[in-house]
Amino acid sequence: MAPMAASDDTLQVILGGVRIGELARVSGRLTFAYDDAYRTAAGATPLSLSMPLSRPEHGDEIVEAFLWGLLPDNERVLEKWARGYQVSARSAFGILRHVGADCAGAAQFVPAEAVNGILLGRGEIDWIDEEEIGRRIKVLRGDPTAWHMSRTGQFSLAGAQAKTALLLENDRWGDPSGAVPTTHIIKPAITGFDDHDLNEHVCLLAAGRLGLLTATSRVREFAGERAIVVERYDRRTGPDGRLERVHQEDLCQALGVPPTAKYQNEGGPSAEDVIRLLRTARDADESIDRFVDALAYNWLVAGTDGHAKNYSLLLTGGEVRLAPLYDLASALPYDDMYLPRLRMAMRVGGEYAITKLSRRHWVRFAAANGLDPEAVLARVAHLAAGMGEAFAAVAADPEIASLGSAMPGRLAERVASHALSCQTALRQTA
Ligand SMILES: Nc1ncnc2c1ncn2[C@@H]1O[C@H](COP(=O)(O)OP(=O)(O)OP(=O)(O)O)[C@@H](O)[C@H]1O
Ligand SMILES: [Mg+2]
Repeated sequence: MAPMAASDDTLQVILGGVRIGELARVSGRLTFAYDDAYRTAAGATPLSLSMPLSRPEHGDEIVEAFLWGLLPDNERVLEKWARGYQVSARSAFGILRHVGADCAGAAQFVPAEAVNGILLGRGEIDWIDEEEIGRRIKVLRGDPTAWHMSRTGQFSLAGAQAKTALLLENDRWGDPSGAVPTTHIIKPAITGFDDHDLNEHVCLLAAGRLGLLTATSRVREFAGERAIVVERYDRRTGPDGRLERVHQEDLCQALGVPPTAKYQNEGGPSAEDVIRLLRTARDADESIDRFVDALAYNWLVAGTDGHAKNYSLLLTGGEVRLAPLYDLASALPYDDMYLPRLRMAMRVGGEYAITKLSRRHWVRFAAANGLDPEAVLARVAHLAAGMGEAFAAVAADPEIASLGSAMPGRLAERVASHALSCQTALRQTA
């Protein structure tokens, strides 16, 4: 007989309010098993594209990669959480037991005793006021590992930057727990990068003006403390007025790659890997076009952080779509970022260096991915031509201007000049 997992060696997996299976740890190795009734039901959504429903059970390596993908990419945060919960910082399973009820996507990972309450939609909300949010942002600025500052409702999210997640309902903020999800991600500016919150917001807004699908964000103050507030696209209000979770996973998770390899130059996914994966999607052409737009945009803003965890897929039943873009930012406002040294997070046509990328790389990229080179070039050139105006318009927006920062104007100027160089590079036929 196979050894049975003890109850603290199992976690139940709920997806969008339905129990879908169980994670088990036996002799230190993890498995995830779908419930048969779920797996064979019409319209079931997989936990991950790396764990297809065609197989009842998935093994240690894939499950570990997926679970780490739900946790912060920040060792100091992981260590702090592990210490707080008295579990090993090297056990994603052990940490998720305490923070797995609110993750990216629709999945919740909870101990058996929490399942019924969640299936019944039970949850609590600790309401907090703006003063308290301001206090938390201030603490986070001083201690970027202080992601958790509430008594209840411990979310988990990936990424390295200081952040917190809260629920916003009827203009009130709260820490949710149980079945109730967080709806917004709040990130203060990164220490050392002035106005990084605003940089991210401006890059999202300008991308939106150029027709790219992006997360909705704002930069605002809570009791005098400023942060970017990003609406979660993996939450929505259902027909009965309740908040629902929408499933997503990032590209590392979908490809079964651990988050430590999120950058291509560290063995992580390439644009070719991503496009191959997207080809299996039902709306493949649209998602691929949107991914190419995102790569081009990162080139045009000198966005160096477009790694495989900064793109996600929305999974609904058998449907796969590229999620709205998030975590966009430009290196151009920072004087210590020397442009000729800046590199894309993913190679385009064999080239990482932003100032070396040119027409032939985009042509090579198109050919390597079975895309029409003329169509790709035309699309990149179209985006390049619109950059200056899009950033200028965002910088002039009254809400942005009211923040009183010189950064959006400086960014707009630098993006315009960099985009001109990119347009020249796109015309180089040699
Ligand atoms: N608007 C959103 N809706 C849903 N999920 C989101 C949204 N924005 C970010 N996420 C999820 O939260 C994670 C962390 O967010 P984000 O990438 O902004 O953090 P970060 O710390 O700045 O990341 P990095 O370490 O890449 O700089 C993302 O990897 C993604 O899974
Ligand atoms: Mg990120």
